[in-house]
Amino acid sequence: MIFPSVALATALASIGAGVVNAQTTPASGSATAASSKASTAASSTATSSTYSESDVPTGIPLPGNYAGLLRPQVHYSPPVGFMNDPNGMFVDQEGLYHLYYQYNPTEEVAGNVHWGHATSEDLYTWTNQPIALFPGAPGEGIFSGSAVIDVNNTSGFFPNQTNGVVAVYTLNTAEKQTQEIAYSYDNGYSFIKYSGNPVIDSNTTQFRDPKVIWYAPTERWVMVVAYPVDFKVGIFSSPDLKNWTAESNVTHYGITGLQYECPNMVELPVVSENSSLPSTLWALQISINPGAPLGGSIAQYFLGTFNGTHFEALDSTTRLTDFAKDNYAGQYFYNIPADQDQVSINWASNWQYTNIVPTAQEGFRSSMSVPRGHYIADLERVGLSLISYPYNISSIVGNELASNSSLGNGTVVVDYSGVESGALYFEANITNLGDASSLSGTLNFTFLSSATGEYVSGGTFISSGDVWLNRGHTGALSDNPYFTDKFSQTALYDPTIGSWNISGIIDRSIIEVFVNGGVLGATSVFFPTQPLDLMILKVEGVNESATVSVGVWSLRASWLDQADGDGIVSGNVTTAANRTNTTSSVSDSMEALRLF
Ligand code: FRU
Repeated sequence: MIFPSVALATALASIGAGVVNAQTTPASGSATAASSKASTAASSTATSSTYSESDVPTGIPLPGNYAGLLRPQVHYSPPVGFMNDPNGMFVDQEGLYHLYYQYNPTEEVAGNVHWGHATSEDLYTWTNQPIALFPGAPGEGIFSGSAVIDVNNTSGFFPNQTNGVVAVYTLNTAEKQTQEIAYSYDNGYSFIKYSGNPVIDSNTTQFRDPKVIWYAPTERWVMVVAYPVDFKVGIFSSPDLKNWTAESNVTHYGITGLQYECPNMVELPVVSENSSLPSTLWALQISINPGAPLGGSIAQYFLGTFNGTHFEALDSTTRLTDFAKDNYAGQYFYNIPADQDQVSINWASNWQYTNIVPTAQEGFRSSMSVPRGHYIADLERVGLSLISYPYNISSIVGNELASNSSLGNGTVVVDYSGVESGALYFEANITNLGDASSLSGTLNFTFLSSATGEYVSGGTFISSGDVWLNRGHTGALSDNPYFTDKFSQTALYDPTIGSWNISGIIDRSIIEVFVNGGVLGATSVFFPTQPLDLMILKVEGVNESATVSVGVWSLRASWLDQADGDGIVSGNVTTAANRTNTTSSVSDSMEALRLF
């Protein structure tokens, strides 16, 4: 629905109420806090990955209620309990995506860490699977790590198959953190812990988060792993995933904060007309917590070259992956060829407040970001940058709610109270902007609760390139000093492209905004007391010669689609019936997010 002449002021007049229940207690939220809860039951045998407490089921997934007001519908969130980092992400040989995650199945706060597991064909529609890795004894935590497919049986675990999966994770105990492995004969659904663990021993409690890749030129596995309080990433290599050699360290790069966590080493395609650039480059991504520039947690990356043992940065620039506060511990899928866009999923939260967000009243805490496609672009003046865009969103795009290819200066109002998911994808393109001197105007968007007036808003000043997001007018935590409410960043207009683009996904309690096809991105959670159900998008003061096109689509209720009448999703016991494929109605122009 488009009402270009509707006065934005009328709708905004209702804004103002609705800031309730703010909590001011800071969360402790450090890595070591995550292992606090002792489990109550007997330990397992040395090689089993099952164990556990009597209230944690093995072999069947936990059911969860996905009908709540705050429960995202196209983002992954756990059925019950607390989730933090994505772990073990790989694409199997049938093209099925596996996501594991740091998981406390018994409480909605960090601790008692297992590896939860979910699978997806499209990265937006997830099937909850049984927990994949369990602590072996009270006080143990299966901390973050990664997974690989040992196609050539380098490990010797898989004499009869080419799809054996090996998980590489940190075993956290009160005494130390060590790197361990577990193997799976059944494509990553269940694991057996290796009897020769640990594969890398230590005498410190600060050595964690191994991310392993296969480095073909040397035919070696390569691990990057954090020594958090030393601000050091260790690079190890191995022929067989069991025997590891320390090769080099990357220390004190960029922003140190107070800890380095969850490193990734990933090879990405370079998309550029500059033929002097290589076709791929490497990114070393390091998460920082606590001590990020905006407080708490964030991730930074460095671009460079990698030879299997050493990383060399191209320059001394520190780049951040996101300009808001809820994008942490991201991991890249294993098994996507390096000449294709790489895909990450990121924990959409921040250790400063993750343990007190109000989703606990719906039985869970934390969501992941949507899958992000990534490549490296050579941006005007800024230079090489990691692009981050919502990956292949077409599978969950539903009805077109608004479309206007010549809006000009005007307003689009969309009442989406009838959209079951409460989730939207929107995109606005301003083209024919001309040279930098003639830039003018603003593009602003607001998502509003017609019941309470709570809202989330954002926008861009086209002449300066400033982009902003404001989550300060929604429900809980608004008075919490750590729950920063306004974010901004600046993108540079490129006259050779001549356009400006904003797109985003809003999904009940999370918004992700992308500028110019992913040159900038922001991920923000927010917690309204009533659903946001009215979108207002307004363009003002833009040069008459420019063309403004806007589109808004509903997104599918991926979780409610697989829920029973009470909103309960049971997981893989009903897999086949739950999977539905929709035909995208997204237009070609809207789907093409790669601008460079
Ligand atoms: C990052 C982190 C990791 C650790 C895990 C524990 O958020 O602190 O360093 O492995 O969480 O759950």
